[in-house]
Amino acid sequence: MLNLTIDAERCIGCGQCASDCPAQIITMENSLPAIAAELEQFCIDCRHCVVICSEEALTISGYRPEAAMVLAEAPLPRPEQLEALIKGRRSVRNYQQRNVDPALIDRLLAVAAHAPSGHNDRELLFTVVDDKGILFDLREEAIAGLEKRLAANDLPAGMEMFADIVAAWRSEGRDILFRGAPHLLLVSALAESASPLQDCLIALTTFELYAVSCGLGTLWNGLAMLTISELVPSLQSRLGIPIDHQLGYVMGFGLPAVRYQRCVDRGLPRVQRVR
Ligand SMILES: Cc1cc2nc3c(=O)[nH]c(=O)nc-3n(C[C@H](O)[C@H](O)[C@H](O)COP(=O)(O)O)c2cc1C
Repeated sequence: MLNLTIDAERCIGCGQCASDCPAQIITMENSLPAIAAELEQFCIDCRHCVVICSEEALTISGYRPEAAMVLAEAPLPRPEQLEALIKGRRSVRNYQQRNVDPALIDRLLAVAAHAPSGHNDRELLFTVVDDKGILFDLREEAIAGLEKRLAANDLPAGMEMFADIVAAWRSEGRDILFRGAPHLLLVSALAESASPLQDCLIALTTFELYAVSCGLGTLWNGLAMLTISELVPSLQSRLGIPIDHQLGYVMGFGLPAVRYQRCVDRGLPRVQRVR
């Protein structure tokens, strides 16, 4: 039951809720919005109808308009600020060895959860290592798992570099695997959702940009991804990734111990125009 409620005193019958509904299930009956019972199943819970209403006349599934941030009052970044954020973001491989404030991590995750998802499925799980001591233990487990594979001589072709990664950690304490990040974020999605991989990557991209705006550094971590998803898959259950989830990617983050002075000039993108 969607339980669409309309405050008839407030509704001005503009029909924006109906015309903006992606599922096109809202109709105007006597100038008031309505959803036929048999169409309710097609609602994707996007709540466009609630937040487009200038009169705050509509609630759906118990969701009230006053529950969320008012956009007209929110200071949006200017384009040049967003440009500096995007161009200034770099992969950080040097971190301060202390935990990020847990309240900030909670905020980053809550914001990242606003990333779009296919069919608005939002079947994501954010798995966070929010304590550097736990990441230390995890690194030990990962390295031990890689060592086992090395000892059994069964590293897949093309992954020989993992021998160097293990050696660097064991002999010099050089952490190529996690690059010294105190925290890790893994985003997975229900494999049966509409677009699990895309949803994970968009959520991580959103997380990353917001994290950088909050003064943190991040690293898309392909080596950790390969380790967890392929080389030492037992790590997935250790991390609590559900069996019916697809792991999207792995990102390290933390307070950076480096500061970049400039953006780099990437030159012009390769573009083709269709005529
Ligand atoms: C999907 C993906 C996987 C990556 N994996 C790693 C990794 O395992 N280790 C690492 O040090 N950097 C990794 N990187 C970082 C890239 O090397 C980096 O993004 C690229 O060199 C551009 O530098 P920038 O991010 O500082 O602009 C990865 C980046 C992406 C997008």
